[in-house]
Amino acid sequence: MKRTFVLALGAAALGLGAAALPAQAAGKLTYYCSAQEDWCQLMARSFEEATGIDVNMTRKSSGETYAQVRAEASNPKGDVWWGGTGDPHLQAAEEGLTEPYVSPMRGELNDWAISQASSADDKTIGIYSGALGYGYNEDLLKANNLPVPACWKDLLKPEYKGHVQMANPNSSGTAYTTLATIVQLFGEDEGFEFMKGLHKNINQYTKSGSAPIKAAGRGENTIGIVFMHDAVKQAVAGFPIKVVAPCEGTGYEIGSMSIIKGARNLENAKKFYDWALSKEAQTLALQVKAYQVPSNKASETSPKAPDLSSIKLIDYDFNKYGSSEERKRLLKKWDDEVSTLPQ
Ligand code: G6P
Repeated sequence: MKRTFVLALGAAALGLGAAALPAQAAGKLTYYCSAQEDWCQLMARSFEEATGIDVNMTRKSSGETYAQVRAEASNPKGDVWWGGTGDPHLQAAEEGLTEPYVSPMRGELNDWAISQASSADDKTIGIYSGALGYGYNEDLLKANNLPVPACWKDLLKPEYKGHVQMANPNSSGTAYTTLATIVQLFGEDEGFEFMKGLHKNINQYTKSGSAPIKAAGRGENTIGIVFMHDAVKQAVAGFPIKVVAPCEGTGYEIGSMSIIKGARNLENAKKFYDWALSKEAQTLALQVKAYQVPSNKASETSPKAPDLSSIKLIDYDFNKYGSSEERKRLLKKWDDEVSTLPQ
């Protein structure tokens, strides 16, 4: 009896094994994603369909994913980190948390994507780009009799008290880009004075970068400091959101991708990396209204996407603000001198 049972079980196991073979042969991929949840999901599903590789995806903000990769460094669990602002990817590269890789797809990319790689010994690469700004809920602005803002400094007006939201720069790459942009635009002393003034008007520091404009879309917040493409996405979805390119000029991100050092599924991480740089994969963005500028020159773009050539962009110093020392220093200073102030 016992023997038959064992044999039958063995056969069942074999049968199962055979049925599961294609997926097993293709293997798996642990994918950390720091872009919008819907885009992360679409990328995961499309890659699975294209390759048969089983994808396990986690979405966390850029600063949070950096912290996770760092915490897991002695026993890495992730294989590839796709999306999110470039600064924490650069910091991870500098700290040896990510793996160099030169993709055969490089010839198809814009120069700004390659320069991100060159400045990090090929441990990261640019996948998209987008300018920072803010958006406001037009209905709420009118209902509260508030003036229409056009500049960064407008956001300091006392009448906006409780009406402005941004993310926490420790967790969010968007908010760190905001802090670094303000410091580059106004200089460090005046920049920190600006952040302190802004703090008085902030109703909440969210964890994720795009949350403030989603809240504005839902009518729960008036002004959200976000990447302009995130505000456009809300407007296109039908919410009463207006998008502002601040009059003083603004910073931008080079959304990046890195392979995690010690990746257990290194070959699959490279397959994902090459695929994610393709025109086909980058054009998927339009399905989820992700209006960043793609790094593959042949990818399709939408006329709804913010036109970066018409926006006054600063010469954002990625080497400096993506360096481990500077990012740590600015975040600590913001924690000590801004976030603790009474409102
Ligand atoms: C949104 C934007 C991306 C950006 C990301 C950073 O998803 O669409 O362009 O890279 O925010 O996220 P985080 O939550 O780190 O600010």
